[in-house]
Amino acid sequence: MGVLVSASLLSADLSRLAHDINSACEAGADWIHFDVMDGHFTKNISYGIPVLEACKKAVPEAFYDVHLMVDKPDLYVKLFSDAGADMITFHYEAMTNVFDTIRLIKSLGKKAGISIRPDTPAAVLYPYFDTADMFLIMTVEPGFGGQAFDERSPDKIRGLKNEITRRGSCALIEVDGGINKDTAPIVLSAGADVLVSGSYIFGADNMKAAVSSLRGKAL
Ligand code: DX5
Ligand code: ZN
Repeated sequence: MGVLVSASLLSADLSRLAHDINSACEAGADWIHFDVMDGHFTKNISYGIPVLEACKKAVPEAFYDVHLMVDKPDLYVKLFSDAGADMITFHYEAMTNVFDTIRLIKSLGKKAGISIRPDTPAAVLYPYFDTADMFLIMTVEPGFGGQAFDERSPDKIRGLKNEITRRGSCALIEVDGGINKDTAPIVLSAGADVLVSGSYIFGADNMKAAVSSLRGKAL
């Protein structure tokens, strides 16, 4: 499988989301990354269920990669699923039973991911190799776009990838935060499968060239 690129709407023009989702898809993004923040798990608040519903209605063919940075995510899984999420990723640190939450997401026919903050060791994910579809390694502290990439991340990704391979798991590794043309090759060589990128894609003069550069290709 090639590298997947998930464009984070946090850096899109929020007054014309449908336009920006279409632009990201036309530029070659595989997924649309939808960051949900509740002001508790993160310091910041972003957007939620009705906004996802509106995006799905406007651009139904896009794949919505929903990143829940909220406490008690199990309370909201069904609502985000109904609103149009294709993949739902929640945080290991977010006061929830991880196995039950994965089961709930899968019972709704959606892909399930578990995310960890930069300070959480990857080993906490090891019990979920057979049940999770994806592990999201935060390469910045959750809460804001445009932050600098955490330099400790490549070792963490490499260790997780080795363990995934050793145990024959099919789980993908997604990375999120500070991903651009310079950091993408570092995380890809460490074993990342899916690259989330917000400010780099939506801030680019040529979005198509930006998405290609994340895959290590010129236009
Ligand atoms: C941060 C979010 C990210 C954010 C990434 O909490 O989870 O998805 O949009 O933004 P960039 O790519 O600008 O670092
Ligand atoms: Zn995110």
